[in-house]
Amino acid sequence: MTRGAGTVDLTDVDVFVAGGHPAVFAHLRAHDPIHLNRGADGSRFWALTRYEDVLWAYSSHELFGSTRGAIVGGSFRSEEDTSAGKMLVSTDLPRHRMLKQIIHPAMSTSVAKRVAARVSVLLDDALARLRRNGGGDFATEVATELPAGALMEIMGLSHEEAHHLIGLTRRMVGYRDEVFVETGGDERLRLAWLQAEIFEFFTDVVAARRRDPGEDLITMLLHGTVNGRKLTEEEVFYNCMNVAVGGNETSSYTGCTGLLALLDHPDQYDLLLSRPAIGSTVVDEMLRWSSTNAYVQRVVLRDVERGGVTFRAGESVTLWNYSANRDERVFADGDRFDATRSPNRHLSYGAGLHRCVGAPVAQAELSLLVEKIAAQGLRLKLAGAVRRLRSNFILGVTSLPVEPV
Ligand code: HEM
Repeated sequence: MTRGAGTVDLTDVDVFVAGGHPAVFAHLRAHDPIHLNRGADGSRFWALTRYEDVLWAYSSHELFGSTRGAIVGGSFRSEEDTSAGKMLVSTDLPRHRMLKQIIHPAMSTSVAKRVAARVSVLLDDALARLRRNGGGDFATEVATELPAGALMEIMGLSHEEAHHLIGLTRRMVGYRDEVFVETGGDERLRLAWLQAEIFEFFTDVVAARRRDPGEDLITMLLHGTVNGRKLTEEEVFYNCMNVAVGGNETSSYTGCTGLLALLDHPDQYDLLLSRPAIGSTVVDEMLRWSSTNAYVQRVVLRDVERGGVTFRAGESVTLWNYSANRDERVFADGDRFDATRSPNRHLSYGAGLHRCVGAPVAQAELSLLVEKIAAQGLRLKLAGAVRRLRSNFILGVTSLPVEPV
């Protein structure tokens, strides 16, 4: 991906892995804010890079639909994603509202409290182990306990099952990364195969909940109705997968990139340790800084003009949370990690109709992580090479070796 407008290719994953994307987005925001991306992989999509354009698209549900799925080029059978109209995140109104009514209670404030209690215990254990061992890989030994605790409470899984499922969602989101999968062959078929592995996992869990219902998301999906009709087994699987991928691959990666930001900005790390009360602004800055879910995809529902560009019905549009969150028009000195930044109206959870339904859970998980680091006065330092996930969709760190100072 070169810097000249028109030659930028946002599908070039290597640029993200090498950390070149902040400069590319700064260039696009300044010179080509609504960028027509022609990918080397044959893809063609619009990329919105300024905050106000991204927010406009999030808020214009009548113009931009979600049925093409989350990932550019992710659907392999047709233009429409196979999950369209079945999985919450790939469903438009009015069906989206009905599906959300079923799923939302599984992530209510009372569930978020239970998640917090569970994650607290798991984190205490993981951090104590890290100290005892004189260090470890924060990405695999600590951060994964955030989604593990959430899955245990939201889906009623055991700790072991939760980690097994995290391994599967990690492979799916890491479908271009040789750490997780054998690369080579057709990427879209590989993605479909990895999705099938997750469905297989849920086959047994769903059968168990049918026999023995609980108060978890899976039981809610089995009993919920849309237009008076129960969800099909496929719809149940898709929504389990939505919550699993949505929850597993975001909060733990944000915890890692958030810690990395503190390690890269020792003055801000000092500030947190000396003033633990700033924990909540630190969490929001980690979310903004990381923008773990780098973009979301929409499909144009009817022709519309903006910024001198005409979006035609059927075209793909990507809303770059990462770039919006660094937009100098909204965030003063946006390329600086500022632990006390306020206000901080980041778009890391999206906005509008599809705004992250798991945000209260994620907020609880990340707050605990930051609170514990601050309360324990835990000063960590890098103890090896950092490895970034090979993705332009989820910006994560797959290996973060650290040791206590
Ligand atoms: C740092 C953590 C997280 C980030 C950055 C994040 C990001 C996002 C974003 C950007 C969207 C909007 C998608 C769109 O507009 O197309 C979204 C939706 C969603 N997220 Fe999250 N998420 C996080 C945590 C979670 C957690 C913990 C869960 C579940 C336990 C979850 C489940 C979902 C679901 C089910 C949706 C679909 C909502 C809908 O379509 O109405 N997320 N998330």
